Amino acid sequence: MKQYFPVSQPSIGEKELAYVCDAVKSGWVSSIGRYIEQFESMFAGFCGTEYALALSNGTTALHLALLSLGIKSGDEVIIPDLTFVATANAVAYTGAKVVPVDIDSRTLCIDVDCVERAINSRTRAVIPVHLYGHAAHMSRMMALSKERGVAVVEDAAEAHGAECAGRKVGSIGDCGIFSFYGNKVITSGEGGMLTTNDREIFLKAKLLRDHAMSAQKRYWHTEIGFNYRMTNLQAALGVAQMERIDEFLAKRRQIMDWYRESFGDHARLRLNHEEPGTRNVYWMVCLEISGITEVDRDAFMTKLREAGVDNRPYFYPVSDLPMFDAAPTPVAHDVSRRGINLPSYTDLSRTDVETISRIALTLLREMRIL
Ligand SMILES: Cc1ncc(COP(=O)(O)O)c(C=O)c1O
Repeated sequence: MKQYFPVSQPSIGEKELAYVCDAVKSGWVSSIGRYIEQFESMFAGFCGTEYALALSNGTTALHLALLSLGIKSGDEVIIPDLTFVATANAVAYTGAKVVPVDIDSRTLCIDVDCVERAINSRTRAVIPVHLYGHAAHMSRMMALSKERGVAVVEDAAEAHGAECAGRKVGSIGDCGIFSFYGNKVITSGEGGMLTTNDREIFLKAKLLRDHAMSAQKRYWHTEIGFNYRMTNLQAALGVAQMERIDEFLAKRRQIMDWYRESFGDHARLRLNHEEPGTRNVYWMVCLEISGITEVDRDAFMTKLREAGVDNRPYFYPVSDLPMFDAAPTPVAHDVSRRGINLPSYTDLSRTDVETISRIALTLLREMRIL
């Protein structure tokens, strides 16, 4: 049978099966159950925050983070132009204006100088995204946010365990959010988490998660809320994955080292960066080819897939999508056309990585790109 390497796949073992079965057998299959509280407390402990709130996915976590900060129509929220669309969509759900700004070409995260230039009297929040596992420049971000009075929501959907100046992402801004979609560092099937040290944000998000039902008076609702709850089944999977997260993070570093070794140095190729003072969790292996056209990049991706190596393009700039305003972001536009993600899951072996790299290098030579 021909070898095939997906871009991503979860690592599900006996522990995951046992906990999910236990949750099913307990009868607590919806959003009440011991695994939910356990998942929340384990995750808060991991990030080093006072609070963690389990939610239905990362997008709803972003939505509640913004609502809990009071973001509404007429406000502006700054985001990096290179991100998954969920970052922008969550801002749009609140009625606020999405303001995409450019990114740093090495970290692929928001450029704080661009944030500074984009802040005006309507700016209420910034969402630095820790893209592909690399932490955004949070020390400068937080200094700016203090100086200009804007809130910071960390979008750590892709960066569980990443660090900036010794602090875990999700614990640095006013609040942070994570995703547990099946391709993430850990998964709960679908799922999300909001992390914060701010009791008011936590309580507001908790209220909105469950239709804003009064804690004192059942079926009395004080405002329009949502059903953004996580189920006990999802949390059971999440707890099992949390028990393995250190193993996953170590393996991801190992895989990145194997990729670096197997690719070797080529003037036109660049793999993931790790800025001094940060810890990258290498959620996605990133390969950028300098000087390649988008047409050739796409042809390379098709040939790679035909050779059994699945891959995906970098995100398109949010400002190019029809529902958002255009923005002058040359760096985001440039890397978006040249970048691809290679297989990045924790069960990859050294031989797998060597095979993938060999296939990629051979194709790049055949296409006269190298
Ligand atoms: C940067 C970023 N933000 C937000 C999300 C949304 O998370 P979810 O898919 O769990 O809604 C994702 C998810 O894939 C993401 O990559």
